[in-house]
Order: sequence, then C-alpha cells, then structure tokens
Amino acid sequence: MSETLEIETPVLAGKPSPFPVPAGCYALTVQEVQHYTNSLFRFRVTRPMQFRFRSGEFVMIGLPNAEKPVFRAYSVASPSWDEELEFFSIKVPDGPLTEHLQKIQPGDTVLMRKKATGTLVNDALLPGKRVWMFSTGTGVAPFASLIRDPETYDKFDQIILTHGCRTVPELKYGEDLVASLRDDPLVGDLVRDKLIHYTTVTREDFVRRGRLTDLIVSGKLFDDLGLPRMGPEEDRAMICGSMAMLKDTKELCLSHGLEEGANNKPAQFVVERAFVD
Ligand code: A2P
Repeated sequence: MSETLEIETPVLAGKPSPFPVPAGCYALTVQEVQHYTNSLFRFRVTRPMQFRFRSGEFVMIGLPNAEKPVFRAYSVASPSWDEELEFFSIKVPDGPLTEHLQKIQPGDTVLMRKKATGTLVNDALLPGKRVWMFSTGTGVAPFASLIRDPETYDKFDQIILTHGCRTVPELKYGEDLVASLRDDPLVGDLVRDKLIHYTTVTREDFVRRGRLTDLIVSGKLFDDLGLPRMGPEEDRAMICGSMAMLKDTKELCLSHGLEEGANNKPAQFVVERAFVD
C-alpha cells in the first residue's frame, strides 16, 4: 500500500489547490480513471495503510475545491484486501460533487472521510445456499467489492450478481469486471464455480429485457437461471439501487418470505441506497 499519503498540498486539475485537507479526511491520489458513458466512470485512488473497511461498505468522498467541500457517499467497489480503492460513479451535469469529480485525472487529490460503514456486508446475512445481489445503475458498486472477496465464496455456494440498466453500455463496468475475475489468481476458480452474472436492460434491445423486479414477479429470472424461486431457507439477498428500486425489491424479498437484517441482527436480506447527487 502507498506510503506517501500525508498529502499537504492537494492537487486539482494538475495544479496545487489553495484549500487545505479538512480535519478527519484522508487525501488520496488518483491513480486511474476510466469513462464508460456520458454518465458513468470509475476511478482508483491510493489506499492509506491505516484505512480498514469490510467489502460492501461505503465512505464519504469529496474534492479539495472549497473550504468546506461537498461530500457524498460512495460504496467502495474494490475488495477489502486490495492495495488501492476503486469507486464507480455517476456523472450528474449539475451535481454538486460529480460535475467536478468527473473531471479528475491521475495525480489529482480526492478527499475521503476516515470511517467506512454500511449494511451490504457478509456479516449482516445469515449463512445460506445462495446470495442474490440485486443492483441497478451504480448500485453494482458494493457488489463489485463483494464478488472480489473470497469470504463471499466461503459463505455461499452460489452468488448471483444481477444488474439492471437502461442501456447496454451501462453494463460494461460489471461485464468487464466479471470477465477479468474469471482469470484472477485469487478468486478465479471460485468465480468460475460459483458466480452467475445476470444482466438486463430496459430501454433498448438486448438479449434480456425488463426491470429486475418484473423478472422476479414473472419468475423469468429464476427460470432463465434454472433456479427455484427465492425462499427463506436457501436464499439471501442484498439490494442496491435507486430509492424506488430498493422499495420495490425489498417488498419482493419480504413477499418471498425473507426477513431484513442489519449489522447487529443478521437475517436474510439487506438493503442500501446507491447514492447519487
Ligand atoms: P426503467 O428504464 O424502466 O426506468 P435509473 O438510472 O433510473 O436508476 O435506472 C436504472 C435501471 O433501474 C433502469 O433499467 C430502470 O428501468 C430500473 N429501475 C428504475 N426503477 C426501478 C424499480 N422501482 N424497480 C426496478 N428497477 C427499476
């Protein structure tokens, strides 16, 4: 992990920023940026040695562009063992953070508050046969972390990463990640044995179409995968997407007999908002 994390003068757009690093924040250096669409990109930053988190948790991210910078919640998309931190972000044209964040380049500084938290963690689920990861849009980010963590494969026999987007290019981050994991030295064997990636698109032509919620209700999701309908004995679920998606998917988990869990009370499914501004 990077040793040079006590940045005194933050950098933005390749130039020193006049604003200091706020108290309680790490100043991290951007290593890599990849744009997928007009509205989606991913970036990787240095990871402080002292920073610990559980795969699936989120942190607060900001930029050194004001005395009191705007912070937004971002799921860490990299696993807890990784030497860097990865994030997958939406670009909102007038978003207080993302209109600036989308312009970051390698060498720039990103601020991160020191504490990670969240409910989309393996500890908040009881053991089970399989785990359904239901995501839409950037809600795939916490699952990008969890599917890279061997602990997820220890806990479940089958991991089904579902990802619903409006258009096909929006699936690319998840598709590239899953493809790369099949050859990964750490989790490659586990991924090939246990991970199923199920994608669907709502606003253009694709092999699978429709909202995940509709595919659950019709049973097509389960039929496509040759799996039984969800139930409390074998199935666990994690949900991350927009508020509407969370509400609808949560209701479906409840109607399939699953109970909601939390860090202090593990149960059969957990929910977390994919944060956007
Ligand atoms: P749709 O195109 O029918 O709105 P968004 O970018 O708005 O968060 O949407 C990402 C994906 O999530 C889209 O495919 C969208 O479908 C879908 N979606 C939106 N609302 C819900 C919901 N309540 N339940 C399930 N999927 C949803």
